[in-house]
Amino acid sequence: MDVVRIGNVSVGNIPEMINQYKICLVAGARPNFMKVAPIFHALAARKEDARIAGNDLQISIVHTGQHYDESMSEVFFRDLRMPKPDVHLEVGSGSHAVQTAKAMISFEKILLDDRPDLVIVVGDVNSTLACSLTAKKLGVKVAHVEAGLRSFDMSMPEEINRKLTDAISDLLFVTENSGVQNLRAEGIPTEKIFLVGNVMIDTLKHNLSLIERGGFTPSAFVQNFRSNGLRYAVLTLHRPSNVDRRENLIPIWGAITEVARQIPILFPVHPRTGSKLREFGMEAEGVSIIEPIGYLDMLCAVKDAAMVFTDSGGLQEETTVLGVPCVTIRENTERPITVELGTNYLAGTSPETILSAAWEILSGNAKKGTIPPLWDGHAAERIVEVLMHL
Ligand code: UD1
Repeated sequence: MDVVRIGNVSVGNIPEMINQYKICLVAGARPNFMKVAPIFHALAARKEDARIAGNDLQISIVHTGQHYDESMSEVFFRDLRMPKPDVHLEVGSGSHAVQTAKAMISFEKILLDDRPDLVIVVGDVNSTLACSLTAKKLGVKVAHVEAGLRSFDMSMPEEINRKLTDAISDLLFVTENSGVQNLRAEGIPTEKIFLVGNVMIDTLKHNLSLIERGGFTPSAFVQNFRSNGLRYAVLTLHRPSNVDRRENLIPIWGAITEVARQIPILFPVHPRTGSKLREFGMEAEGVSIIEPIGYLDMLCAVKDAAMVFTDSGGLQEETTVLGVPCVTIRENTERPITVELGTNYLAGTSPETILSAAWEILSGNAKKGTIPPLWDGHAAERIVEVLMHL
């Protein structure tokens, strides 16, 4: 297995002859589940080899409960064939301080009881920071998957989570070269940094082949959009800076409804956005607003879309690999490779720039992307290879 090492591991503390190696995987919010799944499966595949070598590899999954609705959580565990979490912290919604603090208090008890050798956190949500900080303060090693991404926008809660998690992690697994450069610029020693590719793409590749083999039947809504032979677009929008205030949402929504005059738009709506649309009394002509959908249903919808509008991080990456044009409704991206190599247009939040990207795509002149290095479906295996040789 090709691990691109940026340096030699020297994180100490994990014994050379491991008899028992306890790894705790943390998941909290929707975008975490597709990142945790391939790591879980790659670790599980190593259990038997470890046993033969005299080592007891124990893997546990802790769900903080930051996302808790069936459509924001359980459906992902089912779709991604993950076992039920060993522990559910039931943190729920709340202010950033409340959510982070509740996760820390509950996770500390789990760590004190279980004493894992390593905690793996993924992504940039509040659970990522809460659990890495708790583990580190108890002297438990922390690995951060999807390290080094930077939007350079400290008004984004995720940017704060990313920077702080990276600053205290012992192992930093990176998806794209910009991540390595950002970490080096922040003084993280090279020996902690591993450019391994993108676990989210592991999940995508695996499930795309399942869908192509006919192993999943999409919901009636998604079937309908795909089967009427017309082009369609998919929209996701949930970032607080875009949806929480009327004056920010109105112009974005204006551009979306303008596009919807040309092409139908499927919009699985995040609970945050759904409540704001209701509160602001927004009209949605041409936009089919549905409840959040599961991973496989979303993949079915996105893979055949003419384009995607989004403010999410993960969809910028997924569309790049699927070759689907993506209009990112944000002023910055922490995933610059999707713009440099992929199909992503960083359109900003003004109607003019959103529409200009949309018309370019609809006129058949969308840029053709290429797939970033190491986004090949084997990132989790590379990560596990590193973990097994500490
Ligand atoms: C969180 C992440 C964000 C990620 C997003 C994906 C942080 C700081 N933000 O934002 O990075 O892109 O998840 O979905 O961690 N709600 C429900 N049911 C749920 C979860 C939430 O109804 O299962 C509602 C609640 O009213 C809640 C609101 O959605 O107040 C927002 O949820 P929250 O977890 O605070 O943040 P997200 O916007 O989901």
